[in-house]
Amino acid sequence: MKFLITGGAGYIGSTICSALEDSGHIPVILDSLITGREEFTRNRIFYKADIADRSAVETILKEHPDIQATVHCAALIVVPESVTNPYDYYVDNVSKSLELFKSLSDLGYPRLVFSSSASIYDVVPGFKVTEESPLKANSPYARTKYMMEMILKDFCAAYGMKGIALRYFNPIGADPKMRSGIHVKNPTHVLGKLVDTALGKQDTFDITGVNWPTRDGSGIRDFIHVWDLARAHVNAVTDFDGVFDRAGNPPDNYLVINLGTGNGVTVKELVAAFEKVYGKTINKRETEPRPGDVAGSFTNADKALKLLKWKTELPIEKGIEDALKWGEIRETIIKF
Ligand SMILES: NC(=O)c1ccc[n+]([C@@H]2O[C@H](COP(=O)([O-])OP(=O)(O)OC[C@H]3O[C@@H](n4cnc5c(N)ncnc54)[C@H](O)[C@@H]3O)[C@@H](O)[C@H]2O)c1
Repeated sequence: MKFLITGGAGYIGSTICSALEDSGHIPVILDSLITGREEFTRNRIFYKADIADRSAVETILKEHPDIQATVHCAALIVVPESVTNPYDYYVDNVSKSLELFKSLSDLGYPRLVFSSSASIYDVVPGFKVTEESPLKANSPYARTKYMMEMILKDFCAAYGMKGIALRYFNPIGADPKMRSGIHVKNPTHVLGKLVDTALGKQDTFDITGVNWPTRDGSGIRDFIHVWDLARAHVNAVTDFDGVFDRAGNPPDNYLVINLGTGNGVTVKELVAAFEKVYGKTINKRETEPRPGDVAGSFTNADKALKLLKWKTELPIEKGIEDALKWGEIRETIIKF
């Protein structure tokens, strides 16, 4: 089967392309390369265009009328940048996505999987959330995700689209076959920073916030291997209507599913696991939380199991191992 992957030249989108190919499917990538990597599109069907470019979307669908569903990963993703430059984030993530949804709907391609984020959840006692937990998007970035969920829901109710918002927790690792991974020069993700500290590209790893009401005071997360995350998308798009059947075909044609392991791991526990896999300790210090930081959350993973017939398989150590391996080779694959 063939699927359209927006943002398929990015970290998660390219891993989804690999997972689709490994299960015998064909990804078609739409990416402007605003942040993504051409290297991740090699030997793949690739259209370099903006998601809001209606004529580009028309061309893709004319040339690939057998596309069964779209996975919409394209977005700007750096939270602090969204605070200092909200305009770019609302344009790219909201107004351009709106145009993409309209094009897909008008052109008769109603099935859409949307990359949403656990960053829209409020912090709850015990830190474990379900899809029904209260939301509180804390940054412009998180608000763009929340807005797009609402827009998608309205499109599904009004225009006969069918939407699945997948709320990702904290992706880590790289493609286990090392086709892709984190591609930015200075990673902002926690594991990217740990790898850079271990490899001497950064002096010290900051544990930002050590007075949260968690078991050891550091923030709590749900670290999910990016390959497990990608596999969830394969299940979602290849059995799209089956997912809706198992959900009882809600009349608004819209579903929300959390993607995480079901286990909370603190930042200090991640550092300890990292040092164990790496075999050495790293330079680290405890600091104040950054503006906008929260204690965090992890997910109840029951809905994903029921609807996607999916659960995570790879332990945190495998995510660390793959991130380290990718950190060592990535400059041979990516030209910065
Ligand atoms: N990485 C995470 O921790 C995380 C967590 C939760 C949700 N998400 C979501 O997952 C998705 C993918 O994230 P990622 O980490 O792979 O990011 P990424 O930056 O690696 O990939 C995003 C891709 O989208 C492309 N893009 C952006 N705007 C575009 C536009 N207007 N037209 C065409 N292409 C455009 C970029 O060039 C890039 O290749 C995003 O929607 C993000 O919000 C990511």
